[in-house]
Amino acid sequence: MTVRPIRYLGDPALRRPAKKVRRIDDSIRRLVDDMIESMVAAQGVGLAAPQIGVSLRVVVLGMPEQEPLALINPTIVRRSGERRLEGEGCLSVPGYRGAVIRSRRVTVRALDITGKEIRVKAEDSLLAQALEHEVDHINGVLYVDRLDSMDDLQKLDSSGWSSGEREVGAAPATADAR
Ligand code: NI
Repeated sequence: MTVRPIRYLGDPALRRPAKKVRRIDDSIRRLVDDMIESMVAAQGVGLAAPQIGVSLRVVVLGMPEQEPLALINPTIVRRSGERRLEGEGCLSVPGYRGAVIRSRRVTVRALDITGKEIRVKAEDSLLAQALEHEVDHINGVLYVDRLDSMDDLQKLDSSGWSSGEREVGAAPATADAR
């Protein structure tokens, strides 16, 4: 497994809609391993392949105290409700966080690493937020595109992060848990 460098806002790799995975082979399994390693190293809770410069529809999620989860070709099949989350962040936009509107309930259909079709359902949780955030990434969308105004973007000073930036915000009340 290899930690791969993360691409930052301004890198065209983040803006390309990613391609569907046709076959889950060794290269995809290696990619997933590297993505998990890179996500953990960056203390993120999610990472999409375009963030390490790979234009494929592959996402990994690392919810606190849960096994990392890989989603191949994820699509959001249902979403409902709205909630405003104050502290969303992104490993590709270090040093900032912003307030975005996300769905309350999200259902994603995807393949797991064995090629089996799975559904992931989440409600009012970090996972629900991360699912929308990461599926945005494979469509070339960043959370900063979803801000109502630049006033909703906050620059963090070094004291704002004790342990580095985290991918995707947590529950709005606990910015530090991100
Ligand atoms: Ni992100």
